[in-house]
Amino acid sequence: MSNDPHSSLLRQQDAEVAAWLHREDKRQSTTLTLIASENHCSSAVRAACSSRITDKYAEGYPNRRYYGGCEVADGLEELARQRAMQLFAGAEEANVQPHSGTTANLAALVALAGSGGRIVGMALKAGGHLSHGHSKSHTGMLFDARQYGVDGSGRIDLDEVRRVAREHQPKVLIAGGSSYARNIDYRAFAEIAREVGAFLMADIAHPAGLMAAGVVPSPIGIADVVTMTTHKTLRGPRGGMILARKDCAKLINSSVFPGAQGGPLVQQIAGKAVAFGEALRPEFRAYQERVKDNAAWLAECLAGQGLDIVTGGTDNHIVLVDLRRVDVTGAAVEERALAAGLSVNKNAIPGDPRPPMVTSGLRLGTAAVTTRGFGKDEIAKVAEIIVGLVRGSDPERFRPVVQGLCERFPLP
Ligand SMILES: Cc1ncc(COP(=O)(O)O)c(C=O)c1O
Repeated sequence: MSNDPHSSLLRQQDAEVAAWLHREDKRQSTTLTLIASENHCSSAVRAACSSRITDKYAEGYPNRRYYGGCEVADGLEELARQRAMQLFAGAEEANVQPHSGTTANLAALVALAGSGGRIVGMALKAGGHLSHGHSKSHTGMLFDARQYGVDGSGRIDLDEVRRVAREHQPKVLIAGGSSYARNIDYRAFAEIAREVGAFLMADIAHPAGLMAAGVVPSPIGIADVVTMTTHKTLRGPRGGMILARKDCAKLINSSVFPGAQGGPLVQQIAGKAVAFGEALRPEFRAYQERVKDNAAWLAECLAGQGLDIVTGGTDNHIVLVDLRRVDVTGAAVEERALAAGLSVNKNAIPGDPRPPMVTSGLRLGTAAVTTRGFGKDEIAKVAEIIVGLVRGSDPERFRPVVQGLCERFPLP
C-alpha cells in the first residue's frame, strides 16, 4: 500500500483489509489498465474521498437540507456544481449527487419519461449500456423500452434511429454508449427527438473527459439532459453527474433525491470538485489530446498487424477489436492478457454470435495508460503484445516487457 498516513493507520487497525488494499495497489501498479471505463485518479481526488466528511448526512440540496450542520457539505456541493458548469460551458444546471452512472440514468429517465413511459436507446449488443433499457436492467423493466442498433460497419445509422423513433414515439431518446468508438451527431439526434416530441438524453459516461477538454464534439447545449460518470475519461472519483437545461432541472433534482437516492456521498462530491478543478487546468486538455491520439494510434497499429477494428478506427479513447476472423473469443484473449499483465475486457461486437460472457470482441481504452504517461512508442509495444496474444503466443513471454513499462510509468 502507498505510504500515506491513512494506510499505515489501517495496517495497524485492520491488517486484513490493509492486506487486501495493498494487494490492489500492487495489482494496479504491476498491470497496464486498458479497460476503457477505467482510469487512475489523482492522489488529491483520493484524499478528498477518504476525508472525514464521509460521516455527514446531507439529504436535500445546498441550503435546503433535512439535517443540521451541513454548511461544509453545502460549500463543497456548490463548488462541485459551479466547477462542473464551468467545465461543461453552456450547461445550465448540474446535479453532482448521483452515486453512479446507472443511478444518474435511472433518475433522469424517471424524470423525463415518467414511470412506464416509453424510451428508445441503443441496444447493449450494438454498443449501448444496460441502463439504456436492457431487459435485465430496471430501465428495461420500469419503462417501455425499445432499442436501435448500428449498421453493418458498426456505426449509428441515423435513418434507422429516425425510423425507430417515428415508429415508437418515445418520451426520451437516448444517445450514447459503452463501446461506441465514433463521434455522435447530437444535432441530428436532437432533430429526431424534436420531430417525435421526445426529450433527448445524452449519456457521455465514456467521452466526458474528452468533451470537457473540447477534443471531441459535445452534446452540451444540444441535448435536454446529459448524464455521465465521473470516473472514466473525466478521471475523477467513482460517481455520476447530470447536467440539465434549466427547465428540466427541478424534475431532475427531485428524481435524484428523494426519488432515487437518500443522502448524497459528500466525500465523493468533494472528490468530484477536486477532479473538476484539475480538469479546468490547461494540462487536462493536453492529456485528453494524448488519450485520443493514443487510441487512434493503437487502432492503426492493430489494424496494420492484421486485426479488424469495428468501424475501422476510433474518434475517442475506445478501440473495439473484432476477433471473429482470427477465431478466438474475447474471453480467451482477456485471460491471456491478464497473464501478460494487461487488464482488458471482452466485449460484444455488433451482431456478435457469442454470448456476453464469451464474446467475439475486445474493448480497449487509452485513458489509464495515458495518465501513466504513455506515448506512441509505448502504445506500439502494447499493440504488438495484443496481436501476439490474439494469435496465441505464450503470455509469459510478454510479462517482462509489461513489467518494464509499469516500472518506467508509475501510477500517479
Ligand atoms: C454509457 C454508460 N452509461 C452508464 C454507465 C454506468 O455507470 P456506473 O457503472 O457508474 O453505474 C456506464 C458504465 O460503464 C456507461 O458506459
